[in-house]
Amino acid sequence: TDRYAVIGNPIGFTKSPFIHGTFAKVTGQDLSYEAIEGPIGGFAARVDQFRAEGAKGLNITAPFKLDAFAYANELSESARRAGAANCLKFEGDRVIAENFDGIGLLRDITLNLGVKVAGRRVLMLGAGGAARGALLPFLRQDPSELVLVNRMLSKAVALAEEFAGRGPLIVSGYAELADLAEGYDVVINATSASLRGEMPPLPGNVFRGAELAYELAYGKGLTPFLQAARAEGVAKLADGVGMLVEQAAEAFSWWRGVRPSTAQVIAELTVPLS
Ligand code: ATR
Repeated sequence: TDRYAVIGNPIGFTKSPFIHGTFAKVTGQDLSYEAIEGPIGGFAARVDQFRAEGAKGLNITAPFKLDAFAYANELSESARRAGAANCLKFEGDRVIAENFDGIGLLRDITLNLGVKVAGRRVLMLGAGGAARGALLPFLRQDPSELVLVNRMLSKAVALAEEFAGRGPLIVSGYAELADLAEGYDVVINATSASLRGEMPPLPGNVFRGAELAYELAYGKGLTPFLQAARAEGVAKLADGVGMLVEQAAEAFSWWRGVRPSTAQVIAELTVPLS
């Protein structure tokens, strides 16, 4: 039996063992998947121990994505771009880092929610790790425009410089957004505001005419962001549960060479947003 785990702190509420356990069952893979509460400041030692026990791979959640990136000795392009790892594969001395958060978000939006990104206008809120990881997968879809907005403008500007030449990426502060807004098709909240019940300082008109408002946080119900979108008449509202399951499916495929279907697991984890 090959061993895998998710590591985070806290880890009590993780859905990953359920998700990977279900994937293993439906694909007939012989593996175990546990949850590890990593000690703050002791990530590397704990992972050393897990590897010494013969582990094959690890998912990483807050606050260890940067530690996992530093721990790896091989980086995928998506991990390098994100500057963070959410998945590791162990092969002897090799520790290979991946980051599937961005592709998971994109797959949830395009495949599960049926919302096109190609040729559309996308508004992304936030310039932290979550937004950074999503930029390249989104730009590769050829949106007509991707507007990145952040309170601290310098962080958004730095990202735009890093991704220069990769696509139509534009940076804005929240206040200037009111002038820029000529209708977005997809509005994505990649800030951590909802974790504290806060709302990014968005002008109300950004939701007008949008097809989808997507909240990366999950299990928080109708966050202030989703409430504002609903009040403006956005038809499709989603939280990050589909993204969570899609990034897990990417990890599972990478580790095992078999792609599990995701619809059933997403349905089981979805809590109605109202
Ligand atoms: P993560 O890895 O989850 O993206 P992070 O790197 O700490 O977390 O980044 C948090 C992001 O949420 C940042 O873009 C932050 O904006 P600033 O860089 O301007 O601080 C954003 N954020 C957090 N709370 C917010 C709020 N109440 N309104 C708007 N943006 C917020």
